[in-house]
Amino acid sequence: MCGIVGYAGNRNARNVIVTGLRRLEYRGYDSAGIAELNSDNSAISLTRAVGKISDLATRLEQHPEESTPATLAVGHTRWATHGAPTENNAHPHMSQNGAFALVHNGIIENYLTLRQHLIQQGFSFNSETDSEVIVHLIEQCYEGDLTRAVAAALEQLQGTYGIAVISSHHPDTIVAARKGSPIVVGVCPTETIVASDISAIVQHTNQVIFLNDGDIVTATGEDIDIVSAANVPVARETTHIDWDVGEIEKGGYEHFMLKEIHEQPEAISNATRGRLLPKDGTTKLSGMQMTPADLAHIDRLLIAACGTSLYAGMVGEYLFEDFADISTEVHQAAEFRYRNPIIERDTCLIAISQSGETADTLAAVREAIRKGADVLGICNVVGSTIAREAGHGVYLHAGPEIGVASTKAFTCQVAVLALMAITAGRTRRLSLNAGTAMVREIERLPDLVRAVITQEEKIKQIAKNYAKAEDFFFLGRGYMYPAALEGALKLKEISYIHAEGYHAAELKHGPIALLCPEVPVVGLVPDIQGKDKTISNLQECAARKSPVIAIATEGDKEIEQHCNDVIYVPRCAEFLSPIPVVVAEQIFAYYIARERGCAIDQPRNLAKSVTVE
Ligand code: M6R
Repeated sequence: MCGIVGYAGNRNARNVIVTGLRRLEYRGYDSAGIAELNSDNSAISLTRAVGKISDLATRLEQHPEESTPATLAVGHTRWATHGAPTENNAHPHMSQNGAFALVHNGIIENYLTLRQHLIQQGFSFNSETDSEVIVHLIEQCYEGDLTRAVAAALEQLQGTYGIAVISSHHPDTIVAARKGSPIVVGVCPTETIVASDISAIVQHTNQVIFLNDGDIVTATGEDIDIVSAANVPVARETTHIDWDVGEIEKGGYEHFMLKEIHEQPEAISNATRGRLLPKDGTTKLSGMQMTPADLAHIDRLLIAACGTSLYAGMVGEYLFEDFADISTEVHQAAEFRYRNPIIERDTCLIAISQSGETADTLAAVREAIRKGADVLGICNVVGSTIAREAGHGVYLHAGPEIGVASTKAFTCQVAVLALMAITAGRTRRLSLNAGTAMVREIERLPDLVRAVITQEEKIKQIAKNYAKAEDFFFLGRGYMYPAALEGALKLKEISYIHAEGYHAAELKHGPIALLCPEVPVVGLVPDIQGKDKTISNLQECAARKSPVIAIATEGDKEIEQHCNDVIYVPRCAEFLSPIPVVVAEQIFAYYIARERGCAIDQPRNLAKSVTVE
């Protein structure tokens, strides 16, 4: 969602901020802004624009820099929540006396009360945002110490925040704080960069500090001091991030999504490297910190996640039940804390999140911990909040995923879930031979995905034929059911075509009424259990004159009689079949969206990391 970058040092702050904001564009935003401290430290100048960072850059060109460029600044990309995307609502927000500038991610729940109160005390507001109250509170609380003023303001807030603040009273200092919305501090010898995610930092340094909830950091170019909300100094470890700048650039691809689709063979290799023990018919996931006895004791598994991660979790449900006999329930993370999830002794919750920052998944983690469950995280972003709060878990090592549409995270999540299910299965009922065969299948995964990617040109041609459709169905059963949900999600989010993923057998319980020549159906029919039944369902669709596109196993010529087009994927074990099928769906969705001229990496209304409820 919104993005924050702040800089204190001795370089041109404007350049650092604008470059950083560009790195955060992928998160989704509708306006942007920057506040820079003038070189004589007399005032803070504010530049904001609705639209893209390029619009902000144009505005900045209209305010040429002073001969001595600013060395202290904060910048922001805003994804509107309170108030429309207008220039006044864009961040940074200024205090009434012009001495403080603030950027904020998150939501302040009691802002209306605070706003009323501040208005009564003579403050006037320039925006409709919840954020603006914070900067007025800082001005009101300021008695010469910026950190204390920020702490005193934050004490009055209910809700979530990641903030960064600069002041003309403190020309070399930036203060940042977090509660529920991430802030990362980039540690360099003579400068400090704070940001809402590491993409804005890695080009400057690989040494970062992740703030904990309640932390307030006061940084200059030389020093970084962190205190808790109670003003007690706290030590936070510095983490080394092994992403490099190349990984967060497009590398010649037209879109990040396409690059990330192509990265999947490598990403899966990274996610499984060093974790496969074929001779022992099992896997090694040190981060799980669970002994075979611990695994054997798990009675029930709950999986909580959102969006694509939720669908990966649904594949996990089949895996854990098929191979480890563990009763598994998948929960939409957003519902988890509002129902009464039953957590008994030996219940374990797996939270799946690419970003590790999704608010609903994080809330499910906290609720499960509160109720006494053992919580494991499956995250991609190292040091993310869910990864840290879960205590133990497995990193994907898929590399940065920038495209809003999740691709390589899904395939790596499924691969990692398969690894976990095999390990758990070996403590229960999987034989050595069965375990070995499964691990060998996982070793083939990168090649299987490569084989799908080589079909790109063919899939592109098929996609072009359907790019004008306004409704789609994706049908599957068994392991193909979550794959159907994921295929529909991919298509709708990047092409704006209405698409529904359905269990193939459910179609005739209602949605079949919608079928007609204008509504294509994608049938997921690789050679796995239940395929013949799904083919019968596809025949029902064809009888209603819906065009049918099948995703089937290479060599299956018979399927051609039942559909208008076929996308072939290589033969693979049933438990891994969602991976090649979903890669084919990703390519199909990508080329439909491209044909329609959509903003593939930053679809309208969407954000990469959903940090609000
Ligand atoms: O970072 P997370 O995996 O927790 O994100 C969950 C969803 O927001 C995410 O998968 C979303 O559905 C994607 N846009 C799907 O492509």
